[in-house]
Amino acid sequence: MFYVFPTDGDIARFVSAQIIQLISSHERLVLGLATGSTMKPVYGQLIKDFERERPSLQHVHCFNLDEYIGLPAEHPQTYAAYMQQYLYSHMPFVPEQLHLPCGKDWPDEQQCLDFSRQIQKLGGIDLQLLGIGTNGHIGFNEPGTSFEQRTHVVALSEQTRRDNSRFFTNKDEMPTHAVTLGLKDIIESRQIFLLATGEQKAQIMGELQRSVITEDLPASILKKHPHTAILVDEAAAQELDPAQCKDASVLLEKIEVS
Ligand code: F6R
Repeated sequence: MFYVFPTDGDIARFVSAQIIQLISSHERLVLGLATGSTMKPVYGQLIKDFERERPSLQHVHCFNLDEYIGLPAEHPQTYAAYMQQYLYSHMPFVPEQLHLPCGKDWPDEQQCLDFSRQIQKLGGIDLQLLGIGTNGHIGFNEPGTSFEQRTHVVALSEQTRRDNSRFFTNKDEMPTHAVTLGLKDIIESRQIFLLATGEQKAQIMGELQRSVITEDLPASILKKHPHTAILVDEAAAQELDPAQCKDASVLLEKIEVS
């Protein structure tokens, strides 16, 4: 179901409140996390809410969706660096709780599958956060990826390389490959939030709403999942059919009173 929020800040407040609630109510919690510009307001809000509520984090594990291959470990655009900057350095996690696919050296099939297995060993992902690429990718599962794939190495599409080169001062440094959690791993999560904000996501959200379930549009796999909520701001909702969307004020009211 698509929920339309007034702004990306409202989405951030809602998602952060859900995460704090899960941390406080679960004895063991596995979070699946994404990077990218969509997630920055969410992590900013989560840091603030965490400061206020101070729940224990000892029982929480975080798994990241993806990582570029080939960037030097100290490069500021690795997703490991992103997570440190926008979330992990602000919260009292110990390294054993934080799991990122390793893209430093080209991971072999076994190393990739071990990442999926680590998630399973910890009981599976309770809440997976996803952004969406303008080509419909989730994680770095590009159009055409099998729904049966677990963690694997991908060649990034031209569109993704063009979109993401905005983060690189030297565009030539934009990687050609990445390692990503597979669609099979993602769809096994107990609950999923897909977030889309800004007018640059309006077209793909319209396509996603109209689409059948097809490997040509990776995010369409979420239509199979009974506990997925698609959270969009008004800018990203411009091409959605309002009759198939819910106003998010009901969700926001819930967090106002709690
Ligand atoms: C990042 C990831 C990607 C992004 C997507 C949207 O970890 O998995 O799927 O979520 O490319 O990126 P932004 O938010 O930068 O538009």
